[in-house]
Amino acid sequence: MRKCAESGAAGASAKLTFIKQPFYGSLRMYNNVKEGSIVCHDRRLDMEEGQALISQTRAAISDFVVFANITHAAEDLDGWALLARKMEEAGAHAIEANMICPNLGMTARRLGQAAAPTGGGSVGQSVQSAAAVTRVLKESVRIPVICKLTPNVTNIADIAAACEEAGADGVCMAGGQLSLPPMDIYNPTAVYPLMDGAAMGSLGGPASRLMGFAMVASTARRVSLPIIGGGGIEKWEHAVQYMMWGATLATICTAIMWRGFEIVPTMIRKMERFLESQGYNGYEDLIGLSLPTLRAARDLEPIVGAPMVDAELCNGCGLCLKPGHCDAIRIENGLATVYTENCVACGICVAVCPRQALRMSRTGSS
Ligand SMILES: Cc1cc2nc3c(=O)[nH]c(=O)nc-3n(C[C@H](O)[C@H](O)[C@H](O)COP(=O)(O)O)c2cc1C
Ligand code: SF4
Ligand code: SF4
Repeated sequence: MRKCAESGAAGASAKLTFIKQPFYGSLRMYNNVKEGSIVCHDRRLDMEEGQALISQTRAAISDFVVFANITHAAEDLDGWALLARKMEEAGAHAIEANMICPNLGMTARRLGQAAAPTGGGSVGQSVQSAAAVTRVLKESVRIPVICKLTPNVTNIADIAAACEEAGADGVCMAGGQLSLPPMDIYNPTAVYPLMDGAAMGSLGGPASRLMGFAMVASTARRVSLPIIGGGGIEKWEHAVQYMMWGATLATICTAIMWRGFEIVPTMIRKMERFLESQGYNGYEDLIGLSLPTLRAARDLEPIVGAPMVDAELCNGCGLCLKPGHCDAIRIENGLATVYTENCVACGICVAVCPRQALRMSRTGSS
């Protein structure tokens, strides 16, 4: 917590407190810095440990927001109320109701096992449960209640809307897609390092980012609550992108675990430089800037166009000829030449060109 506060982060979420955790796990993860992280097991906090972490953090660090990430692994609502009250007494600034964690019972339920622990993601999979928990938390504490939602649903915006209706002060959506790592193909039962057996775990890191944008943007169009957005934030631009898709706050976990807290001050410095250079008055100006463009596919209007070649940059390497579906580019006189009549405007050649020599441009009038 101290390292986090010293990095310049606005706050942290103290995770994950139960009245008594249903099993005592050990942190085991799959990590691939190009793809992402998957957590299948972790040591959590029993109520007294969560209280101690929060009260000690509050006593030691000022100007630092502490969320209490809690879940109750049973059907009754009284447990949620008790946990929330204890976290408020310990000094938490907000309750982050964990309706996301897939490590409790999601693999068991997918495998058809009846007696799976509840709590975490199973709460966020039901409009009724998410609303009931939100309501009881709001009745139990005065501090804000933020619902951290599982993405493992048909429509996360429906769940967010139910939380809003039940009185939530915010929602958080960041990773958590139920995932499995690749196995070692030379030893097919070896999946997670130092773990006998493999459960589906919680996705974080780069692989979760584009899904995160979709969750945040669709939710931002449905609710007027503040949204904490995350999943795969590694650079300052990603935080800005989450905000432009409608997030009020950005949250980071995997990138800090991979690269340390020193990424935080760099991100803050670069975001502030961006705000200033682009003439924004503050972070609030970024929230939802891209939302007006979000529409149903049937309401989109394709623009006629094709890639244009920058002759100064193209070195004739031919990589843009590779896309399997495309017969629109040839190398002529050492330069890429686009035959626009064969181009379907997918934009792939632009993405694969190592010299940024191609740019999609309008060619028609619409
Ligand atoms: C080791 C580990 C443990 C996590 N434990 C919790 C947790 O207890 N409660 C929770 O809400 N999210 C938990 N998460 C999810 C992260 O808070 C975050 O929402 C997710 O990893 C996506 O963000 P990221 O791509 O920045 O990691 C955990 C993530 C990791 C990597
Ligand atoms: S990939 Fe880029 S640099 Fe290479 S031929 Fe195509 S446009 Fe030119
Ligand atoms: S935009 Fe797609 S179809 Fe058009 S030239 Fe590039 S790769 Fe080919």
